[in-house]
Amino acid sequence: MDVRSVGIAGIGTFVPKNVLTNADMEKMVDTNDEWIVTRTGIRERRKVDEGTTTSDLCMEAARRALANAKVKAEDLDLIIVATVTPDYSFPATACLVQARLGAVKAAAFDLSVGCAGFIYALATGSRFIASGMYDKVLIIGADTLSKITDFTDRSTCILFGDGAGAAVLTPAEAGKGILAFELGSQGDEEKLLVLPGGGSRFPASEETVRGRQHYIKMAGSEVFKFAVRIMAEASARCLDKAGLSASDVDILVPHQANLRIIESAMKRLDIDRDKVLVNVDRYGNMSAASIPVALDEALQAGKIKDGATLLMVGFGAGLTWGACALKWFPSKEES
Ligand code: UT7
Repeated sequence: MDVRSVGIAGIGTFVPKNVLTNADMEKMVDTNDEWIVTRTGIRERRKVDEGTTTSDLCMEAARRALANAKVKAEDLDLIIVATVTPDYSFPATACLVQARLGAVKAAAFDLSVGCAGFIYALATGSRFIASGMYDKVLIIGADTLSKITDFTDRSTCILFGDGAGAAVLTPAEAGKGILAFELGSQGDEEKLLVLPGGGSRFPASEETVRGRQHYIKMAGSEVFKFAVRIMAEASARCLDKAGLSASDVDILVPHQANLRIIESAMKRLDIDRDKVLVNVDRYGNMSAASIPVALDEALQAGKIKDGATLLMVGFGAGLTWGACALKWFPSKEES
């Protein structure tokens, strides 16, 4: 039983400066701008320098989110990082962020939910506040997929980009903030999207490195079909839980994997194209960072007014999915 409502007090995002255009991809693999744009909608993506890690992106996004929320790092109770590209297998990237931020009293852990990670982090973090256990939670969706992308595999390397998005969660007035979640998983499809090497099944060895097992392997068209179906179904179920219908949605923030996936899913859901945020053309698929970066861009552009009804929906490795409906009222946090 929830004790109180939860809202987003501030958002902060970060993408690296280095841009890889489709022309750059043409120099790496047998592909072309026309194929990439027609099949995915992607025109460019961002890539970190060799020395930059996921926690570095988290730090930039977190500092901006804390400043926007007017919350001090030392007042945070919990930090959750959703990522599939942690700095290390362990300790958790959230612990590295906790130390670097000086969030001295915060607990910290990571979630591995692929591209649905931001929604899962939002659900998890908000439950700690709703239950009354914590007051200030920092969630971050961040990935440096370029570190696990095979830049000799044209079917995957053109898709991904690096980035981070953070949000500070605090209590909200009743009826404002988060309204409902829909989360799910289908673990029997683990092989459709997987990083096979380096875990306990195939520990790192000369053989796994030679077999390029430390890179993303994806059955693209199977994931595509799943994505279109689940984006529409998860959205509908989430809206139903919130007592809303598709026509109530003012802004839809979908995971940015492929423009065709977004358009097909939205057609099934019957949501107008002008309500749907799209930035996949400029960033590609940034995994757990996709949704918060799109949301932040829309906020900066003044597209999201107080009181707007938002629906966020994502899917990813697992396979997993997550959707969240909320009333956008940035919660006012006294510092
Ligand atoms: O966040 C979750 C993770 N991922 C996703 O959501 C991705 C979901 N899947 C997709 O977005 C699409 O399936 C892709 C963009 C990956 C592929 O598009 P598709 O329309 O499903 O193409 P396909 O895999 O069926 O391949 C069609 C053809 C193949 O050639 P043949 O066998 O028909 O001769 C591929 O070899 O396109 C070829 N192809 C390419 N050609 C030029 C595959 N990648 C490329 C490329 N450039 N980069």
